[in-house]
Amino acid sequence: MGFHFQCLWILLLCLTGERLARAVQGAGGLACNWGTRSTHQLLPSIVVKLLKDNGFSKVKLFEADVGALQALGRSGIQVMVGIPNEFLAPLASSVTVAEKWVSQNVSSYISKNGVDIRYVAVGNEPFLQNYKDTFLHTTFPALQNIQAALIKAGLGRQVKVTIPLNADVYQTDSGLPSGGDFRADIHTLMMDIMKFLRDNNGVLTINIYPFLSLQADPDFPKEFAFFNNTAKPVVDGSISYTNVLDANFDTCIAALEKNGFSSLPVIIGEVGWPTDGDPNANIQDARRFNQGLVNRILAGQGTPKRSTAPEIYIFALIDEDAKSVLPGNFERHWGMFNYDGSIKYPLDTGSGKSLVPAKGVRYLARQWCVMSPDASTSDPNLAQSVNYACTYADCTSLGYGSSCGMLDAKSNASYAFNMYFQTMDQRKGACNFSGLSVTTNMDPTPTQNGQRSSCRFEIMIDLRKHEPARRSPALPAAGLREQSSYKVMMGLLVLVLVSTLII
Ligand SMILES: *[C@@H]1O[C@H](CO)[C@@H](O)[C@H](O)[C@H]1NC(C)=O
Ligand SMILES: *[C@@H]1O[C@H](CO)[C@@H](O)[C@H](O)[C@H]1NC(C)=O
Ligand SMILES: *[C@@H]1O[C@H](CO)[C@@H](O)[C@H](O)[C@H]1NC(C)=O
Ligand SMILES: *[C@@H]1O[C@H](CO)[C@@H](O)[C@H](O)[C@H]1NC(C)=O
Repeated sequence: MGFHFQCLWILLLCLTGERLARAVQGAGGLACNWGTRSTHQLLPSIVVKLLKDNGFSKVKLFEADVGALQALGRSGIQVMVGIPNEFLAPLASSVTVAEKWVSQNVSSYISKNGVDIRYVAVGNEPFLQNYKDTFLHTTFPALQNIQAALIKAGLGRQVKVTIPLNADVYQTDSGLPSGGDFRADIHTLMMDIMKFLRDNNGVLTINIYPFLSLQADPDFPKEFAFFNNTAKPVVDGSISYTNVLDANFDTCIAALEKNGFSSLPVIIGEVGWPTDGDPNANIQDARRFNQGLVNRILAGQGTPKRSTAPEIYIFALIDEDAKSVLPGNFERHWGMFNYDGSIKYPLDTGSGKSLVPAKGVRYLARQWCVMSPDASTSDPNLAQSVNYACTYADCTSLGYGSSCGMLDAKSNASYAFNMYFQTMDQRKGACNFSGLSVTTNMDPTPTQNGQRSSCRFEIMIDLRKHEPARRSPALPAAGLREQSSYKVMMGLLVLVLVSTLII
């Protein structure tokens, strides 16, 4: 990692933005990412209501999800539709393929469903260093073909193209934002893409993750990740940077300016803070970060180099219990809301309004699967049973420093058994771990000083009372896709840079 120092820090810093006019206009609304990698998804209509109730006027999807797009029809919410990286090669191969994609996944939703699609995001962090050159040769041609297809469909003005990039596409040799430039190995490609975006009224989208920087480097100055902090500012010429987001974003702006694209609009496609699965992923820090973020969005605040506020899509709306945990257990806990649309923490969303939970969610029966009172923690089958449960259900809250990390061995096993039981829709036989488990109607959620602890023993959403189940694959099968893993890398880089700067 050592030689990546500067690169890393720059990445983090980059994202800021543009779309000034838009941002100002959108000052009344928030934007977020709606991911759907969950075993039990909320009904799209419930999610759309949740968005509206909480003042979200824009949403970003990682793919052209049928349910989500149909529910967004005539909602008044603006949509960015993503194209997964796997689609890049076919889309790059011919304009006809792109025309089909646009017709099916964009035009029809606009004309038939009244979906207000504003952007098509081509790929997701395709130039992430971890991907090596996998998408290097297909991303730009895919972008060009999608743009041509949008024009042919008569949507050239209405729908803009972009490529969401990890902040690792830029770096800074000086360790300061002003030293920003695009990564050497993709510099020429980035120039071609920037030129194309500029000529076609497109935008640049960057994902910035101060949390990942912190998570990747224990020496990262944590305070600097927050907006309202006590960290020592990083001085870059006449500018004093007071937080990672500004510094990272302006590294990107410096890279654009250096290469003659100073007026290219920049969107922050993902930024947020998870609540579980890591010692730094907790309710207090997530609330602090996201409140600071929301405050600046509502205030229309830009960065030192770009006074116009960028469009910022918070990552994420709800937790996703089927995401890959390759980057870390926190991957399943980025939501401002829990898996069921309930509230994790209060957030002031402007004019004294606070977050409101999802309405109309149906749950399974109030029963849990726990370790039998008669079973012993020294039972030779226990470890294997817990392991089995955690292979097919989400146990990421059980790890060190996580919300259920303090449980004793018995409660720990109960938690695992229950997650399995709930994930299997409380099916008959799903609470059968070698005679070690029983079902109960007594809520096993532990209490601390008479209060329910933050370690929640969930009851799952009832899919049968929901739409005809579009079942997600079992957890272990859910590959790392979309936004998943590489955020971590980005984050690290940024952290390193910041620490370098500060030290
Ligand atoms: C989009 O359109 C293509 C046809 O080009 C189709 O194969 C694909 O499944 C559609 N849906 C999504 C989510 O991309
Ligand atoms: C920032 O921190 C100060 C002091 O800790 C506090 O009084 C103020 O309310 C905070 N502002 C925001 C927006 O969180
Ligand atoms: C709880 O379960 C997890 C997951 O199986 C395991 O890693 C951890 O060591 C367990 N802790 C205790 C105290 O049994
Ligand atoms: C529990 O599992 C055992 C062994 O797999 C099986 O014989 C038994 O019928 C199961 N019991 C229930 C209630 O499903």
